[in-house]
Parts: sequence; C-alpha cells; structure tokens
Amino acid sequence: MRNTRIARWDNSKPPPHPDTVAHEFADRLIAWQARHGRHDLPWQRDADPYRVWLSEVMLQQTQVATVIPYYERFVARLPDVAALAAAAEDEVLALWSGLGYYSRARNLHRCARQVVAAYGGRFPPDPEDLAALPGIGRSTAAAIAVFAFGRRAAILDGNVRRVLARVFAVGGDPSSAAVQRRLWDVAERELPVQGLRAYTQGLMDLGATVCTRGRPACERCPAAGLCEARASGRIGEFPGRRQRRASPLKSTVLLVVRGPAGIHLVKRPAAGIWGGLWSLPEAPLAAGDDDTIPPVAVREAAATLAAGLGLAGARLQPLAPFDHVFTHFRLRAHPVLVEVPGTTALAAAESETARWWSPGLLADAPLPAPIRSLLAALPGEHA
Ligand code: ADE
Repeated sequence: MRNTRIARWDNSKPPPHPDTVAHEFADRLIAWQARHGRHDLPWQRDADPYRVWLSEVMLQQTQVATVIPYYERFVARLPDVAALAAAAEDEVLALWSGLGYYSRARNLHRCARQVVAAYGGRFPPDPEDLAALPGIGRSTAAAIAVFAFGRRAAILDGNVRRVLARVFAVGGDPSSAAVQRRLWDVAERELPVQGLRAYTQGLMDLGATVCTRGRPACERCPAAGLCEARASGRIGEFPGRRQRRASPLKSTVLLVVRGPAGIHLVKRPAAGIWGGLWSLPEAPLAAGDDDTIPPVAVREAAATLAAGLGLAGARLQPLAPFDHVFTHFRLRAHPVLVEVPGTTALAAAESETARWWSPGLLADAPLPAPIRSLLAALPGEHA
C-alpha cells in the first residue's frame, strides 16, 4: 500500500531541487538530535578540521566508546597535522595499536604529510578535494566537510546505510553497486538546506542508538511514522542480505623468542596484514582439511623458524593457539615459546627490522593487539 508521502521518494524520478521539497525526515531527525543525540563527544568540542578528520578516520569500522581513549591519547601526543606529519611511523602505529585495520593508520600519516605538502597544513573544505586524500572515502570526506566546514554533503557509512534502507525501503544486497547507488541517491535527496551538522550527527546517532541492527527501538525513533520498512512490517528485510563468501582459515606458527634483553621482534613489511608493525617471527602452516593442525607440524615449523634465527635445537614450548579475524580471512596462530640464554648470536643481533624489546619498551611498542595480549599472558611474565 503506497500513499502520496511515499510517492515523494520514488527513486525512478530525477531528484527535485532541494529548496522545493519538504524535508520531513530531516526535520524530524534534527529535532530529535537536539534532544536525544550526542553532543559531548571529544571531537565535537570545536570544529578543528584536524580533530574532526582524525575522529572520523578512527570511527571507520570502530565504535565511539572504543575510539574515545585512543583519540584523547592521539591528540595529546600529536595535537595538529604538522605534528603528525613530522612524527615517525612507529609512533603513529603505536598510538593506533589496538584499533586494528593498520592501513588506516598508515594512510592517516600519509594524508597528514600530503595536507602539509599540498595545502600548507590546512585541510581543503571541499568534499571532492578531501576524498582525493589517502584514507578518506566519499562518506568520510562528507562528514569532515559538514562537521569542520559546514558544507552540504551526504554521508553513507554502515549505520546510515541501514537507517536509509529501512526508512525508504531500499532492498537488495547493500554491498552491490546498484544498491549503493540508490542509497547514495536517497542520502543526497534527503539532505536538508539548513542544519547540516545536526542532521548528519543525527543520522549517525540514530543508527548507533535507535535504528540498530539487531532489535531497533522503533518506539523511540523520530522517523517511525515515515518508515516504509516499519509500515509494511518488514524491518527484518532491510537492509537486504549481503552475499557472503566463506572466510578462509590460515594457520601460522609464531615464535616467541625470549632472552635476557626481552622479546625478539621483527618489523613486518609495509604491505599486508599488520603492515609496518613489530611482531613475532612467523611461518605459515599448511592448512588441513579441517581446522586442526597436528602438533608435530607446529613443532616442525617452529624448529625450522628457530634454526633460521640461529637457534637450532632450542627447546620448544608450544603455547595455546588463538584465532584472530581479519576482513577476508581468519588466522589461527600457534605460538611457540623459546627461551634463549644471553650467549647466542641472536642475542647480539639488532637491525632496522629485527630487535629485542624489553618489557618497558613493549608497553609503547607498535604491536598488533593480539600479539600484545599474547606477550602479556606469557608464562613467567609478570608485566
Ligand atoms: N561515526 C562516524 N562518525 C561519527 C561521529 N562524528 N560521531 C558519532 N559516531 C560517528
């Protein structure tokens, strides 16, 4: 059953000029944001483009509550874009460590350098220019343009996609190009003429606190009376299901070499998972038919890895395996502890990409979060 209000959102027609449409959805959202939205997030204290940009990049795929302490620590150490551009990559990665998706941190660093080099340290206000910088996609560019510069631009992150798909009944696989295009069209069309900051923040807040994935709180939603998914009793159908491919399992052995000077770590290459971070020496294990790798295969791989470090014949102590989920695969890590006396050749070895980290240095080292947890829980470790 369609009524005239719903016909206004017919996607087959070209969008009307923004000044000529009643923005009922936006009006309701803006009024709701004023009373129920979030107003005291640390990056809302002023519209400093550096802070807005940093927060938006941190908030890509990470929730507000997780981001806040990282954000506070980051701006305390690197308070402006010039400081970030001048920082060493290890420092940036260390400040990021635990947020995951480390390519975001490396892009952040590259972006800061580009803003300094190309724009004299001032972020450009146009969403198109922002979107040309490393690590800034169309939605993040729009969020920065709105919050830092008061521009009129549409966002479409994961939460907003869900809200718009429900309110305007946009079905289909939300990761498909056709559905993405329809959602972007809706996002552009619903933009109000005024109140862009409150509207944009309201969309984010509604998606995070009311129009949630599992059980949306429609009774608290300012758009409940407009929501097409709700009107037709089909909230569970929007957004449509994503076509998922099974995520492959990769297995690896991690060598935890502990000596008098601390833990021996290697710097990972810039490309690939945990790029540029310091981690444990590792070697891939052939995956079996199922999830299990026989202990003997772990020992053999660890022995080969140890021999490559000049630790042939060292006593190997297998530790509990753990899993870590990446975007495109799952990693099963099999850590093996090797204790070395101070007299091996390795004990003296130090290079740009391999060195010993004492317990004191490890606290601030740019480590992947699961490696940090593993090291903190080592037997005989009281850090
Ligand atoms: N998610 C992405 N950007 C956000 C912001 N500025 N406030 C709250 N949640 C967000």
